Amino acid sequence: MHIIQTAAELRAARKPGQGIALVPTMGNLHAGHLSLVRIARECGDLVMTSIFVNRLQFAPHEDFAQYPRTFERDCQLLADSGCDIVFAPNDAEVYPEPQGYTVHAPAGLAGILEGEVRPAFFTGVCTVVLKLFNMVQPATAVFGKKDYQQLLVIRGMVRQLALPIEIVAAETVRDASGLALSSRNGYLSDSQREQAAQLQTALNMLAAAVKSGRADWQMLEGEAREFLSAAGWQPDYVSIRRRTDLGEPSRGEALVVLAAARLGGTRLIDNLEI
Ligand code: PAJ
Repeated sequence: MHIIQTAAELRAARKPGQGIALVPTMGNLHAGHLSLVRIARECGDLVMTSIFVNRLQFAPHEDFAQYPRTFERDCQLLADSGCDIVFAPNDAEVYPEPQGYTVHAPAGLAGILEGEVRPAFFTGVCTVVLKLFNMVQPATAVFGKKDYQQLLVIRGMVRQLALPIEIVAAETVRDASGLALSSRNGYLSDSQREQAAQLQTALNMLAAAVKSGRADWQMLEGEAREFLSAAGWQPDYVSIRRRTDLGEPSRGEALVVLAAARLGGTRLIDNLEI
């Protein structure tokens, strides 16, 4: 496995006709990320994982400085998972000058849910993902459904900007308790970790109620929020949405329920397709 730090080295390493399958990450890898690498293995001739903690998608009060950086361990895991190249640019490589040009996703998709709580988040994500796409020029890129709204925002960007890249979605990997794996789970104390599966429990309860025929969405969302609050969480949102564009749902449509909530100082997100 090669480790490459600059776009120039990247250009020199690529051979004509080779299709690259890219897995963009911020590192501190876990089994969820590695499942994306395995999917990429099936898609491209060359599997590349990027590791870059993107300053642009963190608000000033968020955990950019604290975000776990475990580069050597990540490389070991990637080598064992069939990754060919790690692209690990530094800040100056990605942002050699202040990033004045940025990508703004439409407010109808990127201004709701995560975008409402974290207003600059999707601009930061889209901008860095577009830059990574330009540097790497992958044929395929794999993203997790764990970050459902991010997946839809990226799909929209690729479609509307006519990027010649196929976006592949990967299912969410969970631990034995049902908690979706996340780099931020490392911030949880032992007791919080036991509690953390309640987020998925709330989504499961809501999904079961919808499947049983209930369509009083707002009532259901309120019940799930109350369940979480009573268990000591501070929910940002619990929302039933249309899968295709996260619009307001109607009966008979494919739905997804999305939630974000804080447990102590740790903010977790999760979702479930119904
Ligand atoms: P990061 O949080 O490191 O996630 C990288 C990729 O792994 C994303 O596509 C995410 O959805 C996926 N992922 C995370 N946890 C997962 C799980 N439990 N199961 C399956 N997939 C999972 O998302 C980002 O980084 C950044 O926003 C990025 C796209 C790299 C741009 O900076």
